[in-house]
Amino acid sequence: MTTDFIDRLRGIVGDRGLVTDEAAKHPYLTDWRENYLGAALAVVRPASTEEVAAVVKLCAAEGVAVVPQGGNTGMVGGGTPDRDGREIVLSLNRMNRILEVDPIGYTMTVEAGVVLKTIQDTAAEHDRLFPLSLAAEGSCTIGGNLATNAGGVQVLHYGNARQLVLGLEVVTPQGEIWDGLRALKKDNTGYDLRDLYLGAEGTLGIITRAVLKIWPKPKDVATAWIAVPSPEAAVALLSGAHAASEDNVTSCELMARQGIDLVLKHVPGAADPLAERHDWYVLLEWSSTRPRRPGANQTGLAEKMEAYLGEALEKGLVLDAALAQNEAQARAFWALRENHSESQKREGPSIKHDISVSVSRIPTFMEEGLAAMKKALPECRPVPFGHVGDGNLHFNCQAPEGWDKPRFMAHAEAISGAVYDLVVAYGGSISAEHGIGQMKVEELAHYRSRIELDTMRAIKRALDPDNLMNPGKILDPSA
Ligand code: FAD
Ligand code: MLT
Ligand code: ZN
Repeated sequence: MTTDFIDRLRGIVGDRGLVTDEAAKHPYLTDWRENYLGAALAVVRPASTEEVAAVVKLCAAEGVAVVPQGGNTGMVGGGTPDRDGREIVLSLNRMNRILEVDPIGYTMTVEAGVVLKTIQDTAAEHDRLFPLSLAAEGSCTIGGNLATNAGGVQVLHYGNARQLVLGLEVVTPQGEIWDGLRALKKDNTGYDLRDLYLGAEGTLGIITRAVLKIWPKPKDVATAWIAVPSPEAAVALLSGAHAASEDNVTSCELMARQGIDLVLKHVPGAADPLAERHDWYVLLEWSSTRPRRPGANQTGLAEKMEAYLGEALEKGLVLDAALAQNEAQARAFWALRENHSESQKREGPSIKHDISVSVSRIPTFMEEGLAAMKKALPECRPVPFGHVGDGNLHFNCQAPEGWDKPRFMAHAEAISGAVYDLVVAYGGSISAEHGIGQMKVEELAHYRSRIELDTMRAIKRALDPDNLMNPGKILDPSA
């Protein structure tokens, strides 16, 4: 069946759309963190929705499971096939066209394989903003962003990926095309199918196109690198910033000194913006669509931010701060933040806990969480950082220096169990933005309630009764 099946795939997507050579397949078979290594009959790269539908229909008829993949930057192994070699990887990376920009209606229609950075740049060319922004933006795709309901660094102002999309086109597990590509702000006609596919991590269907929302492009941006005495001060600083900025806070990221030290160690050219070492830092950004008029007697965001930080300094919420004087400096501040994941990877083995609690509970969670992590493994090196404005911490844990992966991973269950138990006691989430993939299947089954799991399994069984759409991810529908 294999040769015949491959030939039939080739008949649909052509030679350019088929990868069967072992070496060429390899990058599609492992994840960004190199935690998983799978196998696949083939990597299939369709060039159109019709080709996706024909491939999925053939797979459904032959009982072959399909693993959708975009930029392969996911953090939880969602786009990696299992080891049996009986699945195909369906990569959307040839479906990379911007189909329409409507600056009047503030929408953009795109194919699923368009890289996020291309969407941001296209919006900017039209004096618009697509606000989804994350460190992987140069390689992740919009299909992957929507399938994971990605978050990133501007959620507190614009929302998650789910809030940035109006319509979808989806290929169902049966190989049918659902045309939900509507640019409607209002549509209450029955169950919201679009919302089902967002965040489903490719387990319910393949997103092939999307109508995205775009926003006016900010004309005035102020960015500051701020040393704060504690996470409590960071939360208080953010709380006051909403009013002080006239509701223009677009990012608020918290970092610990441990993460900064890793970035300075692993990223050439990275430099500490402040003279002294501090334990905690905030990267605060305000942006407004009101243009700055040089020379005019107008208070821009930078002046407002400077005044606000001055007051905060007097109150003891701020220890020191640097306000970016130009775009290059702002980019350098952002690089310190955005290079955390890369630096953790270069440093060696680590465990990620992408958790959320309510913003006001971040300070006590931080204290208790760090203590819990240290209790589970006293030698471990916590690297907490993240989107504090969303209550979302990357409560990560680096292996003790010199430890290899097997030695460290022997402690993973104890460390993660302690963190997740605390998160749940705080009413929080064990996956705020990265999803479940294959990494957290057991945790989801453990921490979500019976009624939630039963409902999710019923949805999966109804839409994908043969369990051929990204099986082994999120949940086991037969459990
Ligand atoms: P992939 O990794 O290819 O796939 C992810 C999941 O979506 C898989 O389950 C896959 O099967 C499914 N999928 C992919 N395309 C489709 C499709 N068209 N239809 C249906 N299912 C599909 N994430 C955040 O949320 N916030 C962050 O701040 C953030 N920062 C990151 C920083 C770095 C350095 C890296 C490497 C990753 C980061 N991520 C972050 C995680 C990752 O970038 C996001 O999850 C991203 O949305 C994945 O997009 P992708 O195209 O790479 O998807
Ligand atoms: C980020 O926000 O940089 C990533 O989501 C965090 C991570 O890699 O843990
Ligand atoms: Zn993140």
